[in-house]
Amino acid sequence: MPYLDAPAAALVSVRYFSFIINYIHKAKENPMRHLLNPLDFSVEEIDSLLALARDIEHNLPKYAHVCAGKKLATLFYEPSTRTRLSFEAAMLNLGGSVLGFSSADSSSAAKGESVADTIRMISCYADICAMRHPKEGAAYVAAQKSGIPVINAGDGGHQHPTQTLTDLMTIRSLKGRLDSLTIGLCGDLKFGRTVHSLINAMVRYPNVKFILISPPELRVPDSIREDVLKAKGIPFEEVGNLDEALGQLDILYMTRVQKERFFNEEDYIRLKDCYILNKKKMKLAKEDMFVLHPLPRVNEISVEVDDDPRAAYFRQAQYGVYVRMALIMTLLEVEKPC
Ligand code: NCD
Repeated sequence: MPYLDAPAAALVSVRYFSFIINYIHKAKENPMRHLLNPLDFSVEEIDSLLALARDIEHNLPKYAHVCAGKKLATLFYEPSTRTRLSFEAAMLNLGGSVLGFSSADSSSAAKGESVADTIRMISCYADICAMRHPKEGAAYVAAQKSGIPVINAGDGGHQHPTQTLTDLMTIRSLKGRLDSLTIGLCGDLKFGRTVHSLINAMVRYPNVKFILISPPELRVPDSIREDVLKAKGIPFEEVGNLDEALGQLDILYMTRVQKERFFNEEDYIRLKDCYILNKKKMKLAKEDMFVLHPLPRVNEISVEVDDDPRAAYFRQAQYGVYVRMALIMTLLEVEKPC
């Protein structure tokens, strides 16, 4: 370290001080972004993200190195196929690398480590992380202690915002719009976090109507019915019969009965096959209605429907990769290549 005389040392400390002040100002103006809830992004921000995802879809090689040197950690305390692997594929497609764990048993959670402590460690090893946890609010706890952007990849029966981004991209690609749609949500509307997030996101677009199709035990929670749908004056109906609703729908969003969130197996067995979409039922639907499903499916869509051009659930899973690429770039503030 070269010797500094007193005036030079004072100048260095003034520069250092103003650097810190600037840093604090910047951090205040531009705090680190997380995605914990679909409403963390404004409608305009979602529009830009979907436009970026669309560009990625059509120009994949252009994005091959934009995240070179960056690391994504996937912290999955609950089972996953699509969400975890599509996050990993997304980061690899961007030229970054991935690390993580795929079950609580293979992490220090099995030894009793808290989410707050784990995320502090992960912040030293990675630039961004995607977390799935069985407890509602786990990703919020993580974000408070995190030094890197946290993406909620599903917290209990609460929210699943990246599935919603995938659903929005799918709906926009298939229907050309996100407004003026009648959307049927069918199955386990109580525990299905993808349903909760999708309703939260879709109520921001004009002329959207919901038909909520479920058995009485699996109706949407009050937090959605009262605080979102009724509070915002959104038209919706709650019905039990899928056949009667089908003809009115532009989108049918099927969901699995969420076995892992039931308190007793008898109830699950009684309710698990309450709706099965098959070829015969598809005859009742409009020619331009599309069937979405976040997957995995169990019995609720018969495999014979897969060949119907209106079955969009596998395309939906592919859109999940593009939208997660766009999300990683957005949260890491990576420049779009020309
Ligand atoms: C969903 C989930 O985990 O909530 N799956 C997914 O992420 N694609 C839906 C489900 O498990 O039923």
